[in-house]
Amino acid sequence: MLEIKNLEANVEETQILKGINQLPKAERPAFGKQVNEIKRHLEGLFSRVSENISEMELKSTLGREIDPTLPSPECESGALHLLTQVRENICSIFRQAGFSVAEGSEVETEFFCFDALNTLPDHPARDLQDTFYLPESLSLGNVLRRGGERYLLRTHTSAVQIRTMLERNPPLRILSPGRVFRRDTADATHSPNFHQVEGLYVDRNVSVKDLKAVLDFFSRSLLGPEAKTRFRPHFFPYTEPSFEVDFQSSHLAKVGTEWTEILGCGMVDPAVFEAVGYDSQEWTGYAFGIGIDRVAQILHGVDDMRILFQNDVRFLRQFR
Ligand code: DAH
Repeated sequence: MLEIKNLEANVEETQILKGINQLPKAERPAFGKQVNEIKRHLEGLFSRVSENISEMELKSTLGREIDPTLPSPECESGALHLLTQVRENICSIFRQAGFSVAEGSEVETEFFCFDALNTLPDHPARDLQDTFYLPESLSLGNVLRRGGERYLLRTHTSAVQIRTMLERNPPLRILSPGRVFRRDTADATHSPNFHQVEGLYVDRNVSVKDLKAVLDFFSRSLLGPEAKTRFRPHFFPYTEPSFEVDFQSSHLAKVGTEWTEILGCGMVDPAVFEAVGYDSQEWTGYAFGIGIDRVAQILHGVDDMRILFQNDVRFLRQFR
């Protein structure tokens, strides 16, 4: 409606201005000026009326006046979940060391989660008792499957190493945080789903010294300058040599003077490089996997990991 009126006004204005030719030359500037003033006045009127109409329409739909800037009376402002905070903390430390985040998939296939990670068909991690397999009849368009292998819920974020290396050429330095799943019954130290951050660095001439340096940097950034790390020999199918790493720091509620296991790591096994088509004579690398929930527990002295998933606001509010 308003637009139509505006149009009519425009037409009339043009016609009025056409008449300017019939006036004596001397009177034309004053006439033109007057027409422009009227035009501006009318435009002002139109826009005010149009604003009033929109406001009235809004009020009639909402039934009352609203002030969208007022705080909500029903809920207080939100905050990030403790696990999200700890995840971001871990990622920001590794960002400083040049790592960037790579995405993976929670639903995986046996190839990405086990085979390409040099995990043999009879490895216990692949047992039905340990891994959630999805029904064989299922077919997912967005998760690539090779041959007749099964879909599963990833048991570790190490699967992202394979996805990334298949997509990119070395050198690379990635970090992949995410949820993982295992067939565990929930108790104080186990949960069927928990969280990890995977790290992978591939370049020429990478050594255990580089791995130790980055993990020392991580422990000191996380726990303070007096934090110490300890490497213990271990076995993972995808790294050789492999280690479990303990942290110690006098300031922490849970770590205290005890050594606390925080992560697994090692030098990428040449078999993993071969599985993704990297030349294992040329490329070397290290990898690590950190338990986010575990870090949250030691940082804040949380004894029972189930509390992290119960979403009891009395617990969560403490970490706003
Ligand atoms: N995937 C291991 C786990 O879930 C953690 C881990 C160990 C990741 C060694 C790695 C690694 O990348 O090199 O316990």
